[in-house]
Amino acid sequence: MTNSIITGWGKCLPPTVLTNHDLESLVDTNDDWITSRTGIKERRISHVGTAELATLAGKRALAAAGIEATDVDLVSVATCTPDMLIPSAASLVQDALGATNAGAIDQNAACSGFLYGLITASGMVQAGVIDTALVVGAERLTYFIDFTDRGTAVLFGDGAGAVVVQATDEPGGLKASDMGSDGSVANILWAPGSGTATNRMELQRNHHLQAIAMNGPEVFKRAVKAMGDSAADVVAKAGWDLDDVDLLIPHQANVRIIDATARRLQLDPAKVFVNIASYGNTSAATIPIALTEALESRRVTPGAKIVFAAFGAGLSWAAAAWEFGSRVEPLGTTDEELPPTDGNVMTLLADNFAYYGGGPAT
Ligand code: UT7
Repeated sequence: MTNSIITGWGKCLPPTVLTNHDLESLVDTNDDWITSRTGIKERRISHVGTAELATLAGKRALAAAGIEATDVDLVSVATCTPDMLIPSAASLVQDALGATNAGAIDQNAACSGFLYGLITASGMVQAGVIDTALVVGAERLTYFIDFTDRGTAVLFGDGAGAVVVQATDEPGGLKASDMGSDGSVANILWAPGSGTATNRMELQRNHHLQAIAMNGPEVFKRAVKAMGDSAADVVAKAGWDLDDVDLLIPHQANVRIIDATARRLQLDPAKVFVNIASYGNTSAATIPIALTEALESRRVTPGAKIVFAAFGAGLSWAAAAWEFGSRVEPLGTTDEELPPTDGNVMTLLADNFAYYGGGPAT
């Protein structure tokens, strides 16, 4: 069977920062609570749409892989916050990249979406259906955040990450995978008015139906179990011992969930990659952003055995045992950047406050 390895990686974080101190002027919260309960210090608010974030992360991943957009057979975008439902974010990204030989598909498994995309694209490469895929996780979650709800306002942020997976004879790539879902508890993390199920008159009366609503403690409990079990499952299926694992790259939702997952796996905390302090929870984007930063900080060595694990709305979960290839340096870079913004976070959120209510206390 052909192997499918990661040959390129990239991220795109919009520059405008919303700090814990900024949040203190929006809801009844404080830096100490947010830091100790979540590990988050700041998050980014995007001034551009999801597809634009995804496109720049994708361009950076293509440059790192040293390939052209026309070499890509499939653009897979994991997102639960696309610019629009029709067409897919992936089609917008495919066009913006000039990936004229690629098919394009969105995958929505919320925070598990990037792993669903990585596993399905890698499976297609291994089966010989395609040679090269660009797999992106991109979100503009703060569009759906009600900044009067302190249970969600402090957690989420915007951003994108991407990888290129390619067919190779080199050893490595996807060694084992697990994907799961329990839709019976869909309502513990949802945005019920974000699709066609809601009566339009009701939505007009209650905009909050469009915002992400969550039973945090319930999600927390299930997340620890789902991520831990799924990660342990792929380690066993790959025929690895836990000692073999070089790095766990978990979904970044809450540092306490990450710590509990590592404890469940009895994994040395030094082997766990955590960057939640800087970006909060960017849903499908956390893992490709974290992988990119792990490569940038040389935490990924040639042939490294990596476990990816995620959970999210659905509830959905996924894990992958992944052996990295021999190249951990990018082949190239691009100097493209997002269009400029004045970086005033409260101005950027004004539209959100006008819709859901709230705004800085004066
Ligand atoms: O990708 C999946 C996305 N979702 C998640 O990963 C969420 C998983 N859940 C969590 O991360 C945690 O449940 C939260 C961070 C959301 C909440 O932390 P918690 O430790 O479960 O707190 P809690 O909801 O049990 O609340 C504890 C206390 C309550 O006050 P009382 O009743 O003890 O007086 C809350 O009202 O903390 C209060 N509280 C806050 N205080 C300050 C809840 N949110 C806040 C806040 N600031 N933002």
